[in-house]
Amino acid sequence: MCGIVGYVGEKEAQKVLIDCLSKLEYRGYDSAGVALFEKDGIEVIKATGRLQVLADEIAKRTDLTATCGIGHTRWATHGAPSDVNSHPHSSERITLVHNGIIENYLKLKALLTEAGYSFQSETDTEVLVKLLDYNYDGDPLCTILKTLSQVRGSYGLAIMFQDYPDRIYSVRKESPLIVGYGEGENFLASDIPALLKYTRDYSILEEGEIAEITKEKIQFYNEFGNPIKKERLVADWDVEAAEKCGYAHFMLKEIHEQPKAMLQTISSRIEDGLPKLRLESMTTDYLRSLRRIHIVACGTAMHAGMVGKTAIEKLCRVPVEVDIASEFRYRDPIIEKDELVIIISQSGETLDTLAALKLAKEKGAHTLAIVNVVGSSIARAADDVIYTYAGPEIAVASTKAYSVQLAVLYVFALRLALARGTKSEEEIRADVAELLRLPDLLEKVLESSDRIKYLASLFMNCDDLFYLGRGFDYALSLEGSLKLKEISYIHSEAYAAGELKHGTISLIVDGTPVIALATQDDVFEKTISNIKEVKSRGARVILFTKEGVSVPQDVADYIVTLPKYAELFMPMLTAVPLQLFAYYMAVLRGCDVDKPRNLAKSVTVE
Ligand code: G6P
Repeated sequence: MCGIVGYVGEKEAQKVLIDCLSKLEYRGYDSAGVALFEKDGIEVIKATGRLQVLADEIAKRTDLTATCGIGHTRWATHGAPSDVNSHPHSSERITLVHNGIIENYLKLKALLTEAGYSFQSETDTEVLVKLLDYNYDGDPLCTILKTLSQVRGSYGLAIMFQDYPDRIYSVRKESPLIVGYGEGENFLASDIPALLKYTRDYSILEEGEIAEITKEKIQFYNEFGNPIKKERLVADWDVEAAEKCGYAHFMLKEIHEQPKAMLQTISSRIEDGLPKLRLESMTTDYLRSLRRIHIVACGTAMHAGMVGKTAIEKLCRVPVEVDIASEFRYRDPIIEKDELVIIISQSGETLDTLAALKLAKEKGAHTLAIVNVVGSSIARAADDVIYTYAGPEIAVASTKAYSVQLAVLYVFALRLALARGTKSEEEIRADVAELLRLPDLLEKVLESSDRIKYLASLFMNCDDLFYLGRGFDYALSLEGSLKLKEISYIHSEAYAAGELKHGTISLIVDGTPVIALATQDDVFEKTISNIKEVKSRGARVILFTKEGVSVPQDVADYIVTLPKYAELFMPMLTAVPLQLFAYYMAVLRGCDVDKPRNLAKSVTVE
């Protein structure tokens, strides 16, 4: 969390920094700040609240001349969102911005206080900058190396030394950073979208590496301070992908991008009508030998894993355990050597997920990452990686990334079923053909947006909402409920439809809104009975089902009918109206859809 940028060149630094930060606001938006090398030294300008507050303040300043500076957008961890806790933080000679957590900061703070330093903020970051100052011997590189050897925790840092007004230093551990190459200018950022307007040429800073960035050159050093050369990469995301392109919000744009994203993701893994993982280690023999699979992820990605579990178990008869990464790490999970651990992450940077991946490797598991961001930490750490082709996802609430994660999990399940013979080649070919119909069907579902908006207008004032479903529909209702909660701030719960009567049904009173999902033939009648149970207690029900089923009268107040499609793949269709429902509920309630309160897209702290 927190976004970092840096610029050295000939342009007005504050303009470039604000522009780049605007693409990183998804990483945190409690406050923002910049530090600029001005004629009289380093000037820091920072403000609590959204980036726009800072941008407005900077726009009033006609005296700024800097062509080198650093910037930050904050997701508060240590110290409440306030001007004084905002980054950059400074000592007399050094200024920096930080993404991460310095774990031993209290101990260091005590030592520095004894040495005569005083502190204005409650942050761990101010301790770090004062420690750099304490160690400063005129040589930035040595000072950084010495300081980091005394620090425990995670960090992505951009550092300016008063004595070196032509350069920025940068170093990382766990928190991601990339450098971008321009013509007579160079850049630093937490993520690629920040730089796309200026350059596509970039390098990834690895753990412990240091970059010294001037306008002519970027010099890299390893963790021992020795100069190293790094591979230059080219980003294939275009600028448009990181812009709203006429949509009111990134979330709406990303919902509408799903047919294309699904097509790219699915078609790249199909050959001659059959699923192809294109991974050398995933041979038929290996897939046949699998006794158990673990899926580990956080948030929406974990919910994708729940759908994946249902699909893999149904199709392949291999047991699958789904874990929340932060729980997995600390429960000493039982993983036999050579078991497969699938790690799912949009960003590829979620700290708990990355740590879970490392733990799985330590235990001898084979790790397969399903990741959206190419070259991200998780993608690089895993034994195998399958990229989802969703393009950059900017809205904090994940939509298209979830859908493509489902698509990859389905392709994986089909390939596994083929290898294990739990389905015949003919059946798999029929499933693949069905899967390829998905983009067109999604377009059709998107055409019904107005109806979903209308339903949202009827339910927008509710305080609580329940989602019900069985099997695939239960897994999906978890995600539907999360979407609603995170962006509209309406309390909601997702329940396995058969479980509701074991407690939660006591919350259903006259008028309680219930979203019921019934897209699965084998449990359709059971689900309908469960809906009747809530209906008879006064619930107002919206039922999401599919064409061709007969719904008894009076079971729902409103019915949304999805196109007829293989029930196996229905979650990928049903997800879309649930996303739209959450979106319109949030918009109608006046919420900041793309930047919901207290959240950040990329969670690089525990
Ligand atoms: C954050 C985001 C969620 C996301 C989760 C996991 O909490 O707000 O939308 O699902 O992190 O992120 P990842 O990048 O690992 O998929």
